[in-house]
Amino acid sequence: MSNISEDNIIIRLVTENDKEGWQRLWKSYQKFYEVSFPNDLDDFNFSRFLDPNIKMWAAVAVESSSGKIIGMINFFCHMTTWDFKDKVYINDLYVDEGSRVKGTGGRLIEFVYDEADKLGTPSVYWCTDESNHRAQLLYTKIGYKAPKIMYKRKGY
Ligand SMILES: CC(C)(COP(=O)(O)OP(=O)(O)OC[C@H]1O[C@@H](n2cnc3c(N)ncnc32)[C@H](O)[C@@H]1OP(=O)(O)O)[C@@H](O)C(=O)NCCC(=O)NCCS
Repeated sequence: MSNISEDNIIIRLVTENDKEGWQRLWKSYQKFYEVSFPNDLDDFNFSRFLDPNIKMWAAVAVESSSGKIIGMINFFCHMTTWDFKDKVYINDLYVDEGSRVKGTGGRLIEFVYDEADKLGTPSVYWCTDESNHRAQLLYTKIGYKAPKIMYKRKGY
């Protein structure tokens, strides 16, 4: 398991003791996106993160002085016809409002890069809203803007 530590923050994969801390940020993330998922989905997600047979994970940023979880990133691996190797998709990223612009979001993404390298699937990608300029300030530094547009099935 990787640990990226800088200043007072440790980035690591979640363990079963992190559920409450992860869930607090997961709820804030839903508020940010003005959505509301049932609590059952929290349980389902968290059990998938801990299941060694499922290629879905979550990492958290932990303040080492207080033990408080102040950031989370959820990601998974999937097949692609474009390569022999799987790709890693970052599904969710959130940093507590009071802890932003201190490098934590960037470190969470770098943690995923590191995990993807270890899995032998170094291709990592993610999406954001066109209107999320704050996130894009970070993303254009840590990645590059792909020339793609997303479409969805109507009603979903
Ligand atoms: C997007 C988000 C995860 C970034 O987390 P963070 O911990 O602030 O990220 P970092 O500190 O690593 O990077 C922020 C970068 O953007 C820039 N930036 C962001 N907001 C800024 C602001 N208000 N003023 C100036 N620069 C800003 C900084 O330059 C910084 O880059 P640097 O570290 O090279 O200086 C966080 O803002 C967040 O949780 N937002 C709400 C949820 C969200 O949008 N999630 C992403 C969904 S795709």
